[in-house]
Amino acid sequence: MNILLAGGAGYIGSHTAVELLAAGHDVVIVDDYCNSCAEAVNRVEEVSGKKVVSYEADVKDKAAMTTIFKENKIDCVIHFAGLKAVGESVQKPIEYYRNNIDTTLTLLECMREAGVKKFVFSSSATVYGEENDIPYIETMKRGSCSNPYGWTKVMMEEILEDAAKADEDLTVVLLRYFNPIGAHESGRMGEDPQGIPNNLMPYIAQVAVGRRDHLTVYGGDYPTKDGTCRRDYIHVMDLANGHLKAVEYAADHKGVEVFNLGTGTPYSVLEIIHAFESANDIKIKYEIGERRAGDLPEFWANSEKAEKVLGWKTKRTLEDMCRDTWNWQKNNPQGYK
Ligand code: NAD
Ligand code: WQD
Repeated sequence: MNILLAGGAGYIGSHTAVELLAAGHDVVIVDDYCNSCAEAVNRVEEVSGKKVVSYEADVKDKAAMTTIFKENKIDCVIHFAGLKAVGESVQKPIEYYRNNIDTTLTLLECMREAGVKKFVFSSSATVYGEENDIPYIETMKRGSCSNPYGWTKVMMEEILEDAAKADEDLTVVLLRYFNPIGAHESGRMGEDPQGIPNNLMPYIAQVAVGRRDHLTVYGGDYPTKDGTCRRDYIHVMDLANGHLKAVEYAADHKGVEVFNLGTGTPYSVLEIIHAFESANDIKIKYEIGERRAGDLPEFWANSEKAEKVLGWKTKRTLEDMCRDTWNWQKNNPQGYK
């Protein structure tokens, strides 16, 4: 298949590109590099040993996207192109709603005009909101979110479901990611956040490499066994493999399907710090600070549906996630720059 990756130069998109290329698919990457850079696409080619068609374009730009759909015969779209910083979304809600929802609508319009019928979407565990019990399972109702970023995901899932209701030939696969971490095993590709990292693992990696002095653990008084929050961390290459399985599933199914992509096993912040230390024989300086607004004490996935329907299962351990993160960070202390 020829697969268009909107936002394919980003962290998850670039790793997915490598996985799709290894399975014999072709990829077309469209990215405006608002949170990535062209070097990530070069690395995809280097690591995979294959050529990629790439465009620097804003996915909201209908004229540019129409040209891209005319120049390439696309079989399936995977939509990664979103703004994703939770805290920033509270400060800049209009930018988040505009970018995340407009990119989705533009892709749907272009697909309709070009007769493309397969859509895989980067959704998030955040759509379960604050009310649902854990572990999260796909049959639960979407909840209410504490921030505009989360609401964009809820709204986009609804838009995609309505689009599929109106066109019975359209296939939509909603992939709800839990907490992706880690990097490609080669050490040539990984997560490269701009500015101060918002997420735990890139922050730990930057402390390890000396770019930050210490990690602040957001809250040590949660009702968990060590007082710190627990999350379902998943290796980015296992997540990339989930996209491969989703694309293959979409090829011969119709309608909307939703899958959690997580391991089903939660780890606390302190467990992550200690796992990173022991996998890499390095000390991470940290202190326990205040809670961060909006953090839930704990959540993790029930991923049985992805296993049963897609035949997908995670293979990599927490140790792999920590080792691969450090292998990437120590060899690329400033990321792709
Ligand atoms: P990322 O920022 O590394 O990748 C997103 C890419 O989209 C970037 O390369 C960015 O430049 C591009 N982009 C954004 N808006 C664009 C636009 N209008 N036109 C063209 N390109 C645009 O983020 P990521 O971690 O790879 O996340 C990919 C997707 O997965 C996002 O939709 C995100 O919300 C979702 N997601 C991420 C996580 C996570 O923890 N990383 C968890 C759940 C869901
Ligand atoms: C993990 C844990 C923090 C940084 C976010 C989004 C979610 C999804 C994945 C997109 C939490 C703690 C963190 C730090 C810390 N993204 N932490 N010190 O918040 O679970 O999920 O990314 O859809 O929507 O909300 O991930 O990596 O930010 O935090 O103690 O400097 O690490 O409090 O318990 P989170 P995270």
